[in-house]
Amino acid sequence: MHPGASASRSNSAILRHLDQMIKNRGIAMSLKAAAAAVRENAHAPYSNFKVGAAVRSASGQIYVGCNVENVAYPEGTCAEAGAIAAMVAAGETELAEVYVIADCPTPITPCGGCRQKIKEFASGDVKVIMATTDGAEQETTIGGLLPGAFDADHMERS
Ligand code: THU
Repeated sequence: MHPGASASRSNSAILRHLDQMIKNRGIAMSLKAAAAAVRENAHAPYSNFKVGAAVRSASGQIYVGCNVENVAYPEGTCAEAGAIAAMVAAGETELAEVYVIADCPTPITPCGGCRQKIKEFASGDVKVIMATTDGAEQETTIGGLLPGAFDADHMERS
């Protein structure tokens, strides 16, 4: 982000900015760059822990989200939830890849609730990359993060 740019940008403004950077440099659109950029917009005044998430859908489109906390603490939402909501709002329901980043000693792992939210739109082999702002990355799959997931098959008799 260039100096003096507004601290607060919409999903589409961030992606336009990243797109422009990519065109300028001739590099492929990176989930990492999208997640790191949207993390700056996190609203985390209570935990001071900013999280950015970027997902690539089956169509190849990138959607981003950040955590949005609330003074009524349980009303806060996770970064992954925001990115997934943006994808669904755009009419897509298939995740191809997930990237999550935060400033922590070891790569952030999606919370339990977010693992279930990812699983709703992903097959078990969908890649989840967990990262720190220092550059450490750890790669796994949603199946690895949520083995034995509850799914619609369990409701077959209902
Ligand atoms: N958080 C996320 O956004 N994603 C996760 O997977 C873990 C936790 C947020 C929620 C809250 O705003 C802050 O991190 C501290 O828990």
